[in-house]
Amino acid sequence: MKDAPNPAQPTPLPHSPSNSPRNSRRSFLRKLGASAAVAAAVPSALASARTHAEYLPLVKKQPFAANDRIRIALIGTGGMGIGDAQTALMVEGVEIVAACDLYDGRLTRAKELWGKDLFTTKDYRQILERPDVDAVINATTDHWHEKISTDALRKGKHVYCEKPMVQKVDEGHQLIKVQKETGKTFQVGSQFVSSIIHAKAKELIKAGDIGEINFAEAQFDRHNAMGAWQYSIPLDASPQTVDWDTYLGNAPKRPWDPLRFFRWRNYQDYGTGVSGDLYVHLLSMLHFVTDSKGPNRVMATGGLRHWKDGRDVPDLHLGLFDYPKTDAHPEFNLALRANFVSGGTANYQFRIVGSEGDVTIGWDSLTVRRTPFAKAPGLSIDSFPLAMQEAYKQEYYLKYPVRPTMEGPTEFVYKTPKDYKGDRYEHFVNFFDSVRNGKPSVEDATFGLRACGPTQAGNLSYFGRKIVGWDPEKMRIAEKA
Ligand SMILES: NC(=O)c1ccc[n+]([C@@H]2O[C@H](COP(=O)([O-])OP(=O)(O)OC[C@H]3O[C@@H](n4cnc5c(N)ncnc54)[C@H](O)[C@@H]3O)[C@@H](O)[C@H]2O)c1
Repeated sequence: MKDAPNPAQPTPLPHSPSNSPRNSRRSFLRKLGASAAVAAAVPSALASARTHAEYLPLVKKQPFAANDRIRIALIGTGGMGIGDAQTALMVEGVEIVAACDLYDGRLTRAKELWGKDLFTTKDYRQILERPDVDAVINATTDHWHEKISTDALRKGKHVYCEKPMVQKVDEGHQLIKVQKETGKTFQVGSQFVSSIIHAKAKELIKAGDIGEINFAEAQFDRHNAMGAWQYSIPLDASPQTVDWDTYLGNAPKRPWDPLRFFRWRNYQDYGTGVSGDLYVHLLSMLHFVTDSKGPNRVMATGGLRHWKDGRDVPDLHLGLFDYPKTDAHPEFNLALRANFVSGGTANYQFRIVGSEGDVTIGWDSLTVRRTPFAKAPGLSIDSFPLAMQEAYKQEYYLKYPVRPTMEGPTEFVYKTPKDYKGDRYEHFVNFFDSVRNGKPSVEDATFGLRACGPTQAGNLSYFGRKIVGWDPEKMRIAEKA
């Protein structure tokens, strides 16, 4: 099957020999986009199921000549940056040409991974000046997301920006504006939005499998140092190997502190705390599954219970988000918990509850439990006088006659296929599909702000010890909670 000719496959567009390889490659990308060749060639059965894995081979199997490749650069070659770049390179027709980081060791590591000819720099502006870079992955610390992404878009690069899209709400509006102005592809890196598991959840919920949604919940229970963001610090960490001044950016000036560089998540100046770092994934997936624009009230509490290593963010965080009724969904509530001191259990679970069942979403599976309400309400008549009990029963059984009914499965488990490459891979397939074919971004800047804005409201609530309002339409902190 794999090698069989595929009639649905588009014919590559010809290149003009008079063009330089560089122009020829750009023109190929442009023409492919304009003709929407892939989309037109997709059989309707698959076209209608484009959130499903089946379309991936159509994207993947395009033959890519050397000058037709999408060339990427990685900015921020830390843990996620390496993971992102390696996943991006699994998509056919993609190659990496440059990497940027502020710590020497990570640039050395980039060359180890992607070859000694890789261009490396500590100054991301040098990456953006390179004509051979089509797209950048921005996997820097949260406080650099907006600046590097908008600079890249303005330099004509497509951008895959890690979550949370921005550290501050105003920065989100700036990104929305620049994305619109430049017309370049901008995709946020909350990969669940491209997952077939979540696409299935969306399909089942839309079909009414769990009735009307009224509640959703998720827990991140962790019980180890890595889970609590106490990452390893390299032995050569120093102001000589790290560009500390650039790292601080718009954050307050401070003397060199390796903890604040290598364990940045623990500080409000560079990260977004539990709420922005972890909950943003859950809001992204929930908004994707329910087509919601977001909550209108946010409450958070918790504390710092164990990891007292100088951090200024909590290690136990509880967040409540009220979702108002919209055309897409009824009113519902979301309850989130992250506990980095979770003795007895280390677990992750996400559950959406409806009037007739629930959906539990795991890393590689989806479980639907169907429990419609019984038609008969049941009896609680023992405290009534005997005569009343008899009379009540007569009426009750007339209204609710006892009839045997067939019993069937109440629980359905869906699993990802064995060869499933994962949601991050699919997220990159979607990103490069947008870059090549002009397909709208699956997670654009507006979607990104609708997911990360409320999590910042969660931080305002936690630190301000108050309920915070959020306007999901205007994407602003609301005066009234
Ligand atoms: N999508 C996901 O599932 C997921 C998972 C983990 C992390 N992330 C996100 O990825 C981003 C990176 O997280 P990480 O865990 O890889 O952190 P990390 O500390 O391992 O890497 C961040 C890197 O960014 C670099 N950096 C910071 N400012 C820079 C600048 N101005 N120019 C160039 N490089 C700069 C740092 O030198 C560092 O090496 C964060 O925004 C995080 O929230 C997403």
